[in-house]
Amino acid sequence: MRIAIGSDHAGFALKETIKTLLDDLGVPFDDLGTASAEPADYPDFAEAVARAVAAGRADRGILICGTGIGMSIAANKISGVRAALACTEASATLGRAHNDANILALGGRTTPAAAVPSIVRAFLATEFEGGRHGARVAKIAAIERKDP
Ligand code: RB5
Repeated sequence: MRIAIGSDHAGFALKETIKTLLDDLGVPFDDLGTASAEPADYPDFAEAVARAVAAGRADRGILICGTGIGMSIAANKISGVRAALACTEASATLGRAHNDANILALGGRTTPAAAVPSIVRAFLATEFEGGRHGARVAKIAAIERKDP
């Protein structure tokens, strides 16, 4: 599995922490920026990571801004992306199992630091359950086709 990861300035420190975690887990990743804690606009990095996932250059993405909210809103504008803001391990697990989330959004200023490793591991390890959830995710894709 290959990950695309990105953040704005408010998520930069947590992005660096997560990169170390990915290294420890042996998960390859592409860091699509930002490269420092200087102010940067979250939609730029949301779009880069979302397009990498939608195009198949990455299997999943991780995006971090101050709250994770702006990143998730922006990433979900890209067709085929299902970005989930998860502040708990349970949310990350269910976002994968029920929603087939392909991007995890985190808040550098809001996600409890102690919870981050378990959130990321759950996002990476949990499989989509399909079945009735597959039918619901298919309805999301149908909405995208109605509103391209
Ligand atoms: C930047 O100050 C902040 O607005 C941004 O990181 C993010 O939280 C937006 O959703």
